[in-house]
Amino acid sequence: MTDPLDRAMHHARTWLDGLDTAPVGGRATADALRDALGGPLPETGADAGDIIDALAAGAGPGLHANAGGRFFAWVMAGSLPSAVAADWLVSAWDQNSGMFTVAPSTTIIEEITGEWLKDLFGLPPECSFAFTTGCQLAHVTALAVARHAVLEQAGWDVGREGLYGAPAIRILTSANRHNTLDAAVRYLGMGETHMESVATGEFGNMRAEDLAEKLSGPMRPTILCLNAADLNVGTFDDFATLIPIAKAAGAWVHVDGAFGLFARTSPAYRALTDGIELADSWATDGHKWLNVPYDCGMAFVRDASAHRAAIAKGAAYLSPSPDVRDPSDWNFELSRRARAVPVYAALRELGRAGVADLVERCCGYCVSLVSGLGALPDARALNVPVLNQGLVRFERAGATDAENDAFTDEVIRRTNATGEAFFSGTTWNGVRAMRVSVVSWRTDEHDVSRSIAAVARVLLRLRHEKPGPREGTGH
Ligand SMILES: Cc1ncc(COP(=O)(O)O)c(C=O)c1O
Repeated sequence: MTDPLDRAMHHARTWLDGLDTAPVGGRATADALRDALGGPLPETGADAGDIIDALAAGAGPGLHANAGGRFFAWVMAGSLPSAVAADWLVSAWDQNSGMFTVAPSTTIIEEITGEWLKDLFGLPPECSFAFTTGCQLAHVTALAVARHAVLEQAGWDVGREGLYGAPAIRILTSANRHNTLDAAVRYLGMGETHMESVATGEFGNMRAEDLAEKLSGPMRPTILCLNAADLNVGTFDDFATLIPIAKAAGAWVHVDGAFGLFARTSPAYRALTDGIELADSWATDGHKWLNVPYDCGMAFVRDASAHRAAIAKGAAYLSPSPDVRDPSDWNFELSRRARAVPVYAALRELGRAGVADLVERCCGYCVSLVSGLGALPDARALNVPVLNQGLVRFERAGATDAENDAFTDEVIRRTNATGEAFFSGTTWNGVRAMRVSVVSWRTDEHDVSRSIAAVARVLLRLRHEKPGPREGTGH
C-alpha cells in the first residue's frame, strides 16, 4: 500500500516543478484521454496510492500548464504556493462551511477574509459578501439580490410571489458585456429579451448620453450592469458619471469586475475604477488575478439586509448561530467547500503591497507582450493595454479581412502547437485577434521574450511556406 497523500504530493510537485519546461498547452486528444482514464466502472476497489499514480499518468498529457508563466489565454492563471497548500488543507479538513455550528474555524476564516477583501477593494464597509464558485455565480448571487430589491421597491415580494405577474425588470448593459451576465439573467427568470444595450464608444465604454436617454421615461424596475474591465481590451466604464445617472432613476447598479476590480488595489491603476464604490453590487474572481485555485469567486452587496433577505435559508434543524455570520445566509449553497481559506492564505502571502505589485507586474508584461508582438512583421497591435488585456492581429498585405481572420487563427493555432506559449482568439470590432491576457504571478520578462520569440518563429515559417505579397501592414 502506498500513501495516496504522499503520491499526490509527489505528482503535484513534479507538475509544478516542470511548468517551465512542459508544453504550455495540453496535447492529448479527447479519445486518448478516454483511453487512458476510462473503461468500465471498476467492479472492485484498488490501492489508493496506485489510483493517484494512474490518475497523474493518465491526466498528465491533457493538462494545460496555465499555472506557468506563458499561458495568456482567456483570463486564467495558476495559484500562489500558499493558496495551493491551503486548498489541500481544505480538502483534508473537509469542513462543511455553510454554518458556524458545523465549521467554526473555516466560517471565521471566511468572515475575516471577506472583510479583508472589502478593505483591499475599497468597497463600502457596510457591504455584505459571498464566496461563490466563480464570477458567473457571483453575478447570479448579486443579481438575485438586485431582483429582490428592485421588485420590492415596486411593491412586489419575489420570494413569496415568484415572478408570476411581477413587473418586468429591465436590464441595461452594453454589447461589451460578458456572456455570464446574460446567463445570470436567464437563470433568474428575468429574460434575455428584457436586456437592452446602451450605446458604447470605440473601446466599448458605455455612453452616458444614451444611458440618460434610456432612463428618462417613467421609473420602472431597472438593473444597470457596468464593466470593470471587459475581457478583450480591459475597458472600464466611467462609473463616476454613469452610476449617479442610474441612481437618480432608481436603478440598481451591478459591476462585473471579474478581474478588473483588482485595478483598485494598485495606486497606478486605481483611477480606472473611480466611482465604482457608488454601485450596489460587485462581482469578482479569486481564481483569476488573486491566483488562488479553482473554484473561487466573490460577490459584494451594499445593502446587506437585501442580500440576506434574498438568499438566506433557514430550518430549525440547522442551528444557526445568532452572533456569527453563517456563510449559507449569503450564498446559494448550504453544504459547501471552505473556499475562502486559500484566499486567506493568498492575502497573507502577498499582503496589500504584494497584490498591487502582482497587478502592476501583469499590466507591465501585457504592454511588453502586445507591443513586442505588434512590432513583428505581419502583426499589428489593436490596442495599447490600459490594464492586463491586449489584442494583436496578424495580417498579410493585400489579403482580404476574411483571409487575415484565418491567418490570425492560424498563427494562434501554430503558436499553441509549439508548446512555448498559449494564446486564445477572439472577435473584436468585427475582426479576429489574438488575445493577450496576463494574470499569473509566475510570468516574468523571460516568459515575455520567449513567447514573442515563439510567435516570431511561427510568422517566419508561415512566410516561407506561402510566398506572396506580405509586406508590413502599417503598424
Ligand atoms: C469580465 C468577465 N466576467 C465574468 C467572467 C466569468 O468568470 P467565471 O469563469 O469565474 O465564472 C469572466 C471570465 O473570464 C470575465 O472575464
